[in-house]
Amino acid sequence: MKTVAVVGSQWGDEGKGKIVDLLAADADVVVRFQGGNNAAHTLVVDGEKFILRLVPAGALHDGKTCVIGNGAVVDPIALIEEVDSLRSRNRMRADDALKLSYDAHLVMPYHRAIDRAREARLGKRAIGTTGFGIGPAYEDKMARIGLRFDDLENFAAFTEKLEYNIREKNLYLRAVLKAKPVSAAEIIAKMKIARTRLRRYLCDTSIYLADAIAAGKRILFEGAHGVMLDIDHGTYPYVTSSNCGASAVFGGAGIAPGRLDGVLGISKAYTTRVGGGPFPTEIKGRLGDALRAEGDEFGSATGRPRRIGWFDAVLVRHAARLNGMWGLALTKLDVLTGIDPVKICVGYEIRGKSFAEIPANRRMLDKVKPVYEELPGWSDDISDVRALADLPEAARRYLERIEAATGVPLAMVGVGAAREATIVLRNPFAD
Ligand code: IMP
Repeated sequence: MKTVAVVGSQWGDEGKGKIVDLLAADADVVVRFQGGNNAAHTLVVDGEKFILRLVPAGALHDGKTCVIGNGAVVDPIALIEEVDSLRSRNRMRADDALKLSYDAHLVMPYHRAIDRAREARLGKRAIGTTGFGIGPAYEDKMARIGLRFDDLENFAAFTEKLEYNIREKNLYLRAVLKAKPVSAAEIIAKMKIARTRLRRYLCDTSIYLADAIAAGKRILFEGAHGVMLDIDHGTYPYVTSSNCGASAVFGGAGIAPGRLDGVLGISKAYTTRVGGGPFPTEIKGRLGDALRAEGDEFGSATGRPRRIGWFDAVLVRHAARLNGMWGLALTKLDVLTGIDPVKICVGYEIRGKSFAEIPANRRMLDKVKPVYEELPGWSDDISDVRALADLPEAARRYLERIEAATGVPLAMVGVGAAREATIVLRNPFAD
């Protein structure tokens, strides 16, 4: 396959960064097509830790082109900081290493202020957003009052639109949210810097990608978040404000349906989520705490402790159906070492009634009782294993059950944080 999308099949944080980084070695172009800096990928390369939020993981390989498509929402100041940090570590030195869509919307300081003030007012009903202004930025895009990189070209006209927006947002912040207004002068000064620094990367990324596809280049589309955080197919309203599945590639990167050859799903060997909302297989108490510590399950974007749960095959089947997965990369199998027994949720029950899928009435997800299969655990350290046959038998059986319960063939298994700590069964670019 030449064009491959990688999508999270749980609530984000599945370890997509590591898999994308690994696959980026075989790709020419790596593309972000939705979300913003609410995403964060932690990558360990040659013992060095990187956290990428907006820049695609191709940035850690020489000679790759990174693209941020029109479907992403970009906090320009956060992007400058990320580019500077990468450059100071000798990555992304060339200006043509990054292509940024003119049509991508800007996340403004007033979006962050609104996001945070709203969450604070919601109290117990808060979504648990990252507070980076993502929802309010997508709202403005749909309301057709958003500002795009394109607008920066004519700075006088941009300033006029910006000032109009700031007046409206400040009214809302003060009167409705009882929050501090934002300073127009400060934002204008920041946007001037953003214009100077980021203009060199701007282009029509849809045309760039069409040309790259026509030239037979290998392209990796890097999904952010996960299907359960998808605005349409996730646990609404406890979701992010974009479509997070492979369907978003077409709108968010501007490529034609049919130009995407395959989808690789990514899932942890267990489940995590940050923020509020239903979580059927959540493990509370000491076992959850132990897994959180072992898996270092603290949000890369916000540092918040992640909620921990058993592997939920119902969710992954939901993601597989929506994305038509060619294969599944299962990450962090090593974190389960020493846990005995291990459990897989294969279905749900509500008042004696069985469900093989997420109940059509999504609110019921709060009420379901997971149906578990228990399997024996393993205790041998697996972090140096590089072939399936070298895994302890119990670990192999666990993987076989996941394959059978999700209906998706395994393509990769992660056994540690480093790029090389991966058992590669099938590489989508070699298929
Ligand atoms: P927002 O995207 O900041 O609006 O947050 C909405 C919900 O999505 C919250 O529950 C966040 O914790 C969650 N979320 C957003 N991005 C990610 C991610 O990359 N990983 C995990 N959770 C995320």
